[in-house]
Amino acid sequence: MKTFNIAIDGPAGAGKSTIARLAAKELGFVYVDTGAMYRALALFFLRRGIAPGDAAGIRAALPEAEVTLRYENGEQVVLLNGENVNGLIRTEEVGKMASVTSPIPAVREKLRELQQKLAGETDVIMDGRDIGTVVLPDADLKIYLTADVSIRAQRRYLELVERGEACDRDELEREIAERDRQDMSRTVAPLKKADDAVLLDGSQLTVEQTKDEILRLYRSRA
Ligand code: DC
Repeated sequence: MKTFNIAIDGPAGAGKSTIARLAAKELGFVYVDTGAMYRALALFFLRRGIAPGDAAGIRAALPEAEVTLRYENGEQVVLLNGENVNGLIRTEEVGKMASVTSPIPAVREKLRELQQKLAGETDVIMDGRDIGTVVLPDADLKIYLTADVSIRAQRRYLELVERGEACDRDELEREIAERDRQDMSRTVAPLKKADDAVLLDGSQLTVEQTKDEILRLYRSRA
């Protein structure tokens, strides 16, 4: 049976994962957070002490890293060589490393195969940077979710404060802008809106409103 695939791409902090998770729950789809897969590999490279710029070292170590996904009570659990790393991959350090290591073609190829396999097996909402453009070019619904950089920084700031992690708001905005620049300017699978993706600017929308808009788009196509 053909599966229904929804692709959500967009810059860091646009709310993709929160919104995709909620929408997946309502639709009974599996939510696939591809950023978490890149983060798991980044954690692996950090643990190995590989320098971010050492592309040869990264390619050499890659075959020893196995990323798999498991679902527990509807939540995605990322396993790195069998270890649940969900609680270890959300730091700025891992995010930065992921931004530097994700452009390496061998890294992308490894994860792309896993992502395509999942989408072929089950109805998914998959979020990332290149889902509509590269991973699932035939997705049934493609969304490009974005928001102003200052609003994304403010939301991330409040999130970190709530978790008790001290940070500088302006510094955070600079980091997000730099992450955008890296994700959009890389030559391999850069972040960009697919021609047939619906542009959704969530700057002035709540999470709930954005999710409802995605559900509306789904219903208009299902
Ligand atoms: O969405 P995130 O912040 O968890 O993503 C972490 C990094 O991984 C980010 O710098 C971009 C990269 N990434 C990617 O290159 N392709 C994807 N499909 C998802 C994430």
